Amino acid sequence: MSVWAGRRVVLGVSGGIACYKSCTLARRLTEAGAQVDVVLTQAAAEFIRPPTFEALTGRPVLGSLWEPGGALSHVRLGHAADLVIVAPATAHLVARLAQGLADDLLTTLLLAATAPVLLAPAMNDEMYAHPQTRANLERLAARGIALVGPEVGALAEGPSERPGRMSEPEIIMAHAARCLRGTAGPLRGRRVVVTAGPTRESIDPVRVVTNRSSGKMGYRVAEAAWERGADVVLITGPVALPAPVGVRVMRVETTTELEAAVREALPAADVLVMAAAPADFRPSDPSDSKRARHDGALAVPMEPTVDILSATRSERRAGSVIVGFALETGDAMAKGRAKLERKDLDLIVVNDALEPGAGFDVETNRVALLDREGTARILPLQSKRQVAEGILDAVERILGR
Ligand code: CTP
Repeated sequence: MSVWAGRRVVLGVSGGIACYKSCTLARRLTEAGAQVDVVLTQAAAEFIRPPTFEALTGRPVLGSLWEPGGALSHVRLGHAADLVIVAPATAHLVARLAQGLADDLLTTLLLAATAPVLLAPAMNDEMYAHPQTRANLERLAARGIALVGPEVGALAEGPSERPGRMSEPEIIMAHAARCLRGTAGPLRGRRVVVTAGPTRESIDPVRVVTNRSSGKMGYRVAEAAWERGADVVLITGPVALPAPVGVRVMRVETTTELEAAVREALPAADVLVMAAAPADFRPSDPSDSKRARHDGALAVPMEPTVDILSATRSERRAGSVIVGFALETGDAMAKGRAKLERKDLDLIVVNDALEPGAGFDVETNRVALLDREGTARILPLQSKRQVAEGILDAVERILGR
């Protein structure tokens, strides 16, 4: 089930040109299952008329304490909300909030709100750089208000090399999900290291040996762990996926580079999720020059690469949770159990590449989770994101033991 299903979100919109993007944000939140109450400042209502937001959210839009339904709506909405997002948060809104002013419905509601608050500032770059704005934002951050952006990029008045532009709706949604979920739970503040994707090994300067791993499973785990409040490092082989929001990404190419990155990250890791599919073999003597086709048949002698999970065992932090994967073709459970023991893992995610909907380069997966205690949990066929949540639930159970 989506993190947004049944959640009550107040989306405050203050008056800046970036509020055209708030329409998309309101729509995305609604589509994801949230109940979205939009509150407009007077200036915001000059940019976007209330019926636009009403059509996008299917709910009445509030703008004033004095209109029908407005009386006490600040208290009602403020108390009922699971999350308050203000996007865009203009320099003026930020200043009013930092001072604790309550001179309209949105600022009054923000004082009455008990839920987490996320601001997406957007303003002219000079206004953002102004010491007063900086001080206001610092004060709000010190009060526990979460901030996303602003980013560098085009502003209404032209391109800018300095921040001012409101973050895109997808980025605001990712931060909002972390505000909703990441305030409690065993992964909050923990360092989670995730590996993802294939590695590739050179045959010659233009040819490589690799495998079919798409990296999707690892990327979904990294994304979900960050949403749960973890500090996430994603070590990734070459894949065609966008970096997950909030996650520190390290790129590697070969199994040796992956091993070095894991070795470096492991001593600080509370959790390692080894979802990568490192190349198990590499050409033992890669050629320095391109081998021509007319030279005839090519035999490439291969040597095994290092088993990273086993080789880095001594770098593991005491009490850390180590998760491996086993993609098998037949007899998966028994092979998975043997791998868990051989690699000294706390949890292994087992799947069978021959099953429809499971394995490489598909959106779904059907896995079983085996732990050290001998417990086996079989998850249904579901999206890789849902599988990622199932894996992290199991990790949290182990952390909580
Ligand atoms: N793995 C690893 N180092 C490698 C290969 C794999 O650490 N060189 C990790 C994978 O990231 C995965 C787990 O080990 O979490 C199992 O991967 P798999 O390829 O099934 O393991 P192998 O040890 O290569 O097993 P097999 O003998 O079946 O090839």
